[in-house]
Amino acid sequence: MQKLSCPKNIHHLAFLCRDAEQTRWFYEEVMGFKLVAALDFESSPGSGEPLEYMHLFFEMGNGDHIAFFDIPDDLQESDFNLESGFKKHVAFEASSMEELNRWKDHLNKEIGNVSDPINHEFVHSIYFYDPNGINLEITCRDKNYENIMKKDSLEAHDNIKNWTKKTRLKKESKTSLEMLNERKVETKDFIKRLQSSNII
Ligand SMILES: [Fe+2]
Repeated sequence: MQKLSCPKNIHHLAFLCRDAEQTRWFYEEVMGFKLVAALDFESSPGSGEPLEYMHLFFEMGNGDHIAFFDIPDDLQESDFNLESGFKKHVAFEASSMEELNRWKDHLNKEIGNVSDPINHEFVHSIYFYDPNGINLEITCRDKNYENIMKKDSLEAHDNIKNWTKKTRLKKESKTSLEMLNERKVETKDFIKRLQSSNII
């Protein structure tokens, strides 16, 4: 990528939710975000197929949003099992360790089951779940964050090369060389589904 600069920020991350009002309670009353849209739709975007759903947007204070879909006809509890943070999590940022500890106390009081701060060296984080099974993190930069990241950044590309060498055989046995070397997405099933629903 030479002429095009990278996108400037995350406008929104979007997830499925069990219930619009339950999700509003959590993100507005517990997390303190601002509900800026609750859009009630009767049809699917693009295809126009009948679909009753609500699209919610919560603003985080800097123009970034976290968004949700509530689709009553598709509601199934298995979509909201607690999901491993390795698979997916969202990390919000606190400005000091004191603020991080205040978040821990607040969340323990409001929802319970919040981890103690975990020291990741470059950041310190607490972990908890939203009502939809999404693993959430509040993180605070260590006082040596800039120096640690400068060093990590210099090593990052070499680290991936070494990692690839070290794990390639194991990875090939779990998937395939073809999948590991894939660099295009237009033949993928999910793209075909998006095209057939007229979203793209
Ligand atoms: Fe994280």
